[in-house]
Amino acid sequence: MVAIEYENLPHIVSIKDAIKKQSFLAQERFLEKGNIEAAFKRADHIAEGVVHIGGQEHFYIETHGCLAKPKEDGEMDIHATVQYPQHVQMIACRVLGEKANRIRCHVRRIGGAFGGKCYRLTTALACAVAARKCGKPVRLILSRTEDMSLTGTRQPTYAEFKAGFTDTGVLQALRVKVYCDAGCYEDCINWVGAHILFNLDSVYSIPNIHTTAICCKTNKATNTAFRGYGAPEAIHIIENVMYDIATVCQISQMQVREINFHREKPTLTYFGSSLDDFDNFHRCWLECVTKSNYHQRRRVVDVYNAQNRWTKRGLAITPNKHLVGMLPIYKMQCMAMVTVYIDGTVLIHQSGVEMGQGIFTKMIQVASRVLGVPHDLVHCQETSTTTVPNQYGASASCTADRNGYAIKNACETIMERLKPYKDADPKGSWTDWVMSAYENRVNLAAIGFYKCADVTWSWVTKTGRPYMYPVYGTACSEVEVDCLTGNHQVLRTDIVIDIARSMNPAIDIGQIEGAFMQGYGLFALEDHRYSPQGILLTNGPHAYKIPCFMDIPSDFNITLLRNSKTERAVYSSKGVAEPPVSLANSVFFAIKDAIRSARADVGLTGPFRLDSPATGERVRLACADSLVGKFPVPEPGTYKPWEAPL
Ligand code: MOS
Repeated sequence: MVAIEYENLPHIVSIKDAIKKQSFLAQERFLEKGNIEAAFKRADHIAEGVVHIGGQEHFYIETHGCLAKPKEDGEMDIHATVQYPQHVQMIACRVLGEKANRIRCHVRRIGGAFGGKCYRLTTALACAVAARKCGKPVRLILSRTEDMSLTGTRQPTYAEFKAGFTDTGVLQALRVKVYCDAGCYEDCINWVGAHILFNLDSVYSIPNIHTTAICCKTNKATNTAFRGYGAPEAIHIIENVMYDIATVCQISQMQVREINFHREKPTLTYFGSSLDDFDNFHRCWLECVTKSNYHQRRRVVDVYNAQNRWTKRGLAITPNKHLVGMLPIYKMQCMAMVTVYIDGTVLIHQSGVEMGQGIFTKMIQVASRVLGVPHDLVHCQETSTTTVPNQYGASASCTADRNGYAIKNACETIMERLKPYKDADPKGSWTDWVMSAYENRVNLAAIGFYKCADVTWSWVTKTGRPYMYPVYGTACSEVEVDCLTGNHQVLRTDIVIDIARSMNPAIDIGQIEGAFMQGYGLFALEDHRYSPQGILLTNGPHAYKIPCFMDIPSDFNITLLRNSKTERAVYSSKGVAEPPVSLANSVFFAIKDAIRSARADVGLTGPFRLDSPATGERVRLACADSLVGKFPVPEPGTYKPWEAPL
C-alpha cells in the first residue's frame, strides 16, 4: 500500500571520502601534553606518515538470533543472542511503548560475540515488534551473509602522524590525528575513539604529544565495539611510528623501542594517570627477549635473508599495554544474587553473559571459594534482566571483576549469617549449618553489590583515571614470507603477559591464544571490500579470510608473568579477554621486517607504507621488485573493480 520512490544520492564509502566531504559525526576529542611545536623545532629529524587499519568482521560462530514470546499484561520474554540484555530490555520498551517491568530479556549462552552483540540489537527488536503485532512467538536467525552485511564491523581507522626525534631515536614530539569510520550513525565509535587516544602512548614516554580522534560518518552499516575497543588500533599506530624512527635513525627495531620505554617513577600516561606496577612491563619484555631467544634468532634470520632472494624471514618483538575498565563510571557497578537451598546447593544469578569466555566457571569458582563448598554444589543460571536488573553488558575485559566482586560480596553476607550455626557446630557439615540456619529463620539469599572506586574521566578538565588497571605484555613473532605470492606463515610466537594471578589458567591461556589469533586476523588476513556503491562484497567466508587451524603459529608459547598481584582485580586475577589482541602486532611487524629485507635487495631502504591487514596482495606489492614496480600500492578505501573479489 506504500509507494516509495528511491533516488541515488552521493554516498561516502571510505574515510578518505568522508574527510574530503567533511562528513563527521561527533565532536573531535583531543588530549595533549607539553608543547609539540617547540619540540618539533628542536628535533633532529621529523617523520610523517599515515597508518590505515581495515575493519574486522566479528565472525562469531553463532549469528544474531532472537525468539520473542508475548505474554499476558503486556509482558514479553525476549531470548536474544546479546552481550547486553538490559539494553535489549530498555530499547524494546521504547519500540513497543512498554514499561521495563513487563519486558524480560534472557540469555543462557551465546556462540561468541567479541563486541558485536553489545549494541547491535536490530534482530531482537524486529522480533519484539513482530511478536507484539501478531500476538505470537516470533523467531529470527540471521544468515551469515545477512549478519555480515547488516551488523557492522570493527571501525576502519586511519591516522596521520608527525614525529620529532633525536639522532639516537628518542621520540620527543608526536602529533597524531585519528579518524574512525563510524558508519551511518554513532553507536559507540565515539568511545572507541577515546579509547584509542587513552591507549596511544602504549608503554612509551612521550614528553610532547597531541592526539585527536574524529568520527567519520559514512553510508555503510553502523560499526560497533570489537574486542580491544580501539586499543589494538592505538598500539598499531604507535608501533608504526617506532618503526619509522628506527628506519630513519638506522638503529634496530628493538633498540628504538627500548630507549623510548617509560623509565621515570612514578610512571604516568601522557594524560597523567598512574600506570601501576610498570616494572611488570619491563619484566614481561625481558622475559620475552629471553624466552624467544631473540638475539640469536635475529642473527639466524639475517643469515637466512642474506642467502634467499624470494623467500624472506621476519622477526619482531612488540610491547603492549592495555587499559582495562570502561567509562562512564555508571558502567562500573554490578549486582549479583546468591541463593542457598536447604539441600546445601547454591544458585548464582549474575549479569555476565556466557559467550565462550568461561565467565560461569569463574563465577562458580568465586562462590565456591568464599562459601567453602565444592564446585559441583554451585550452579550458575541464565543471565536475565529479571533476576539481576539494571546491569551493564559483558564487556571491556572486566566482566569477571565486576560480577566476581558482587558474588564475593553476596557470599560474604551469607557466610556472616551462617557463622553462629557454624560456631555452634564446628564439626558439622555445610548442609548441617544451612539446615540449622533455615530452621532458625535465617535469610539464605543475598544480594551482592560492587562499585569500582576510581574509574573517572572528565573531558572538560582532562583529568581522571579512565581505567581500573593496565595489563602489560610482550610478544615476539617470526614469519616466513613468499615474496612472489605475498603469502606468509607464522613460524613461532612467544608471549609473556602480566594478568597477575590467573583465577583459571586453563581458561585464560585459551583466551590469550584466541585473542592473539583474532588480532592476527585483524592485522594480517581479514580484508573488507565494498563496491563503489558501498555494498559489502566480502559477505561470507568464501570471500573473507579468517584465521584457520593452519594459521596458528607452528610453535606457540604463552607465559603468564609470575610474582605479580593487584588489589584492583578480583582475587588479583586481571582481565584477559582483550589485551592479547594487540600482541598480534608482532606478526604484522615481523611481516614488515621480511618485506624490508626484500626491498633492501632492490636498493630500497627508507620507511615504506604497509597498510593493515598485511594481505598477500599488499605484501606482494610492498616487496617492490621489478615485477610489481608498475603497480602502485592501492589506496585503502578506493575500490577499483579489479580489486573486488567478484
Ligand atoms: Mo567489548 S569490545 O568490550 O563488547
